[in-house]
Amino acid sequence: MNIGDKILERLSEASAPISGEQLAAELSVSRSAVWKGVNSLREQGFKIDAANNRGYILSPKNRRLCAAQINSKLNCRRALVFDEVNSTNAIIKEMAEQGAPEGTLAVAWRQTAGRGRLGRSFSSPEGGLYFSLLLRPEFAPELALLATSAAAVAVCRALEKNSESKCMIKWVNDVYINDKKVCGILTEGAFDAETAGLRYAVLGIGINITEPKGGFDSEIADRAAAVFGKRQVYSEQLAAVTADTVNCFMDFYRSLESKEFMEEYRSRSWLNGKPVTYEKNGTAYSGTAVEIDPDGRLLIEQNGETTALAAGDVSVKPKEKV
Ligand code: BTN
Repeated sequence: MNIGDKILERLSEASAPISGEQLAAELSVSRSAVWKGVNSLREQGFKIDAANNRGYILSPKNRRLCAAQINSKLNCRRALVFDEVNSTNAIIKEMAEQGAPEGTLAVAWRQTAGRGRLGRSFSSPEGGLYFSLLLRPEFAPELALLATSAAAVAVCRALEKNSESKCMIKWVNDVYINDKKVCGILTEGAFDAETAGLRYAVLGIGINITEPKGGFDSEIADRAAAVFGKRQVYSEQLAAVTADTVNCFMDFYRSLESKEFMEEYRSRSWLNGKPVTYEKNGTAYSGTAVEIDPDGRLLIEQNGETTALAAGDVSVKPKEKV
């Protein structure tokens, strides 16, 4: 860790200004090294206030996210922050292959090749929060689907705690606010051919925090929204959303089989009562979404018959014009 990182770590944990003298003593460096470190952090875009000679404090107006700020709120304290990556899921996969421990978290501001579900891409411009968590589960691969549902509930709770929004879940795991998608979740697994178990899994979460400059991509513009709209968002809030999501998810994950999140997952279902279309084995169907059952399957009714979908994708039928 360089001196800048150490200063950030200390400032992220502090609730009152810390003098240059105290920082120097704690970090065993000279006061001039602290001064240079603070200046270098400011040049990198961190907003550090010098409070009336009382010392340094990370400004509440700081916008640049740093790992220390997330780690100060994160139970497992294993976050790394990147300005721009191809995909945080890809980064965590690489780290997993190199033996990184469970709980390793990669967070980015932008992704150049964000991955979505069903082989789609995931638009990841600045204004979003993109993070991936490394899991080394001991449960059967079938339970991985439950992990994704647990994550959707964790995102809802974190967003409701840190914004004034009411979150719903569009089955399987999109988070919606005011009928628009604000978050997508993708869990990818690496299988062990010998044991047919999971070597590791990567839980990737992408949240639209503020509207991107120039608006959302045209393909998603009618369905997407940002949690904070056009409002200014500071690093403290970003760190809180990230850490609250991961801490809550890890609590669910430790006893995934008990499905303690399932009642909440079902009660947040956005699709209930809506006319939907979906595809199964290459054939298109339509019906009305009834509810999510206790196993997390979407129940769809058509002509008095009920179909239970365990995975896949459904679209809401546009209202017919009269
Ligand atoms: C979807 O809605 O299709 C799922 C999108 C998942 C996007 C997240 S962003 C962080 C992580 N990195 C990726 O490349 N994808 C996931």
